[in-house]
Amino acid sequence: MSENKKTFYITTPIYYPSGNMTIGHTYTTVAADTMTRFRKLQGYDTYFLTGTDEHGQKIEKKAAEAGVTPIAYVDKIVAETKELWKLMDIQYDDFIRTTEERHIKVVQKIFRQFYEQGDIYKAEYEGMYCTPCESFWTPTQLVEKDGVKVCPDCGRPCQPMKEESYFFRMSKYQDWLIDYIENHPDFIQPAKRANEMLTNFLRPGLQDLCVSRTSVKWGIPVDFDEKHTVYVWIDALSNYITALGYSTEHDELFRKYWPADIHLVGKEIVRFHTIYWPIMLHALGLPLPKQVFGHGWLLFGADRMSKSKGNVVYPGPIVARYGVDPLRYYLMREMPFGADGNYTNESFLVRMNADLANDLGNLVSRTVAMIEKYFDGVLPAWTDATDKELDAPLKEHCAALPTLVNEQMDKLQFSQALAEIWKVIGECNKYIDLTQPWVLGKDPEKRDRLANVMLTLAECVRFAAVLIGPFMPSTPDRIYQQLGVTDDSLKSWDSLKTFGLLPAGTRVCKGDALFPRIDVNRELEALSGGKEAGAESGAGKKQPEKEQKAEKKHEEPEYPEEVSIDDFFKCKLQVGRVLACEKVEKSNKLLKFRLSFGKDGERTILSGIAKYYTPEELVGRQVVAITNLAPRKIAGIESQGMILSALDSEDNLTLVGVHADTEDGAIIG
Ligand code: MSP
Repeated sequence: MSENKKTFYITTPIYYPSGNMTIGHTYTTVAADTMTRFRKLQGYDTYFLTGTDEHGQKIEKKAAEAGVTPIAYVDKIVAETKELWKLMDIQYDDFIRTTEERHIKVVQKIFRQFYEQGDIYKAEYEGMYCTPCESFWTPTQLVEKDGVKVCPDCGRPCQPMKEESYFFRMSKYQDWLIDYIENHPDFIQPAKRANEMLTNFLRPGLQDLCVSRTSVKWGIPVDFDEKHTVYVWIDALSNYITALGYSTEHDELFRKYWPADIHLVGKEIVRFHTIYWPIMLHALGLPLPKQVFGHGWLLFGADRMSKSKGNVVYPGPIVARYGVDPLRYYLMREMPFGADGNYTNESFLVRMNADLANDLGNLVSRTVAMIEKYFDGVLPAWTDATDKELDAPLKEHCAALPTLVNEQMDKLQFSQALAEIWKVIGECNKYIDLTQPWVLGKDPEKRDRLANVMLTLAECVRFAAVLIGPFMPSTPDRIYQQLGVTDDSLKSWDSLKTFGLLPAGTRVCKGDALFPRIDVNRELEALSGGKEAGAESGAGKKQPEKEQKAEKKHEEPEYPEEVSIDDFFKCKLQVGRVLACEKVEKSNKLLKFRLSFGKDGERTILSGIAKYYTPEELVGRQVVAITNLAPRKIAGIESQGMILSALDSEDNLTLVGVHADTEDGAIIG
């Protein structure tokens, strides 16, 4: 009875439709879809919301560049996004667009309420303004060039400027929020992100937030002061409730599903979801979402994927070549949810072979082939010819699997959940080796034993098929087909309460290999000839919102708690002198250095710092480099090391150097 079902409401961020969605956006969306499917399997009444965040200067500018209206521009990207989600087997319940009337009306109402209750006030916004970019910058965000403070985006001089804006009195709610976070340890996950918020933003004191602009036109007008446009976060964050009909006559969904169970967000927007959003909700008198989970980034090499770096990976070509389930599996398996991880074609292909073709694929095909061979393709009945030492541990483990998987899914540890399933798959393959069905098959007296071995395997495969469904939606049916499972009740979560439900008489049917083995080297070449699949070399620029820049300092790699001094000394750090330096053709990011390391000779090293330095200013200078890094081809050139630099939270980069001229090649340590 649906009204008695527990509800589960999950959201992704609403994405900027400034360009096509990448494998990074796909990562969050697949995670939300997987979680929804898992809860649905368990019998929850689920609601999954995604959408697009369509206002703002960036979109306005992109549309102008493309020579179309902003709405025409976003319409196209939204249509393509929906196509992509279909391709990725994403089953959202609603797709909210911030340009929709249902959103706009409610945002205006919310804004007005904040104003009327004194949470929002009008004041002057003062800062340095870049006219061509139409952007305000704080003094620390500006970059110094030839003694002049310039725009960090375009490098042109900025002028002091005042703009009338509305501000949200964030400071008023600061103590309440600190208290809330401290008393709700599950609210921000992973827990270290809660500490970051408390330490870096809340305890030092919140600034009031600018929530309107007069210079941005592509946005929601403030209905009581029409020269103002609602600026960024009130517009964007409200989507999670406007989509449910909050504050309208039709608020059934809101009453049913709010508060959300999980807002899934990338770690760079945790701040907006765990500080501004809770404060807004509290000011509206609404309960807070139960959890905001800040996941890590899918990196490309050591870099964050971004159009400006020309290293964006799109899922389309990968799915076209290998199908959607392997990519979904890889995304959920490769890195712990919460941590950063690398996308490489190689790790994807290796996982396809090892986990999907070998472990899962082989288990299914061996099981079905043996049932065909020894029992004419028809499942026998259980017998009492058991081997306690071999059968019981596997059966018990498999029977416990739903609980083990659920424990991981409760924590959004997708990768661990899959690891639990794969442990059982691995044990099954081992079980085949230990029970040696090919030996049992030769001895008619061992037929009863063989029957149990086959049934145990088939039942484990059924368990695995049910549990992988949320991750790889079309794979279970292919397994059920081979296993001869037609009864839907054997595909359900409830059916996993009992081990051994597959009925005698079930007819198996060997099919194509679930995941054919691939030749990794050949595929690597076919995919890219050295370039990652779907990686784009275009030079479009994507910097979502300037506010996000201030988050940089929290985007560090996941360092181990400590390293030994031996670990440190594995890196050979040396002083090198720049003999020559030039821009790499067709790259707006790379500089190519020829460096002298004195008696250790010369090296070529590439560094992605073209945005920060001109080649001329570097020739003759001494830098610090790691000289024993494995050489790597970048843009077709072998880079023989890495030059060290420091990047601050405002995106200013400074090369690491030595304080006085020293011998070239001198060792640092
Ligand atoms: N519009 C805002 C969000 C507003 S939510 C009320 C925004 N949009 S975005 O298009 O920049 O999308 C950012 C989100 O996309 C990240 O938070 C993350 O969920 C996902 N990702 C985009 N690239 C990513 C990676 N390379 N890796 C992992 N996730 C990334 O910010």
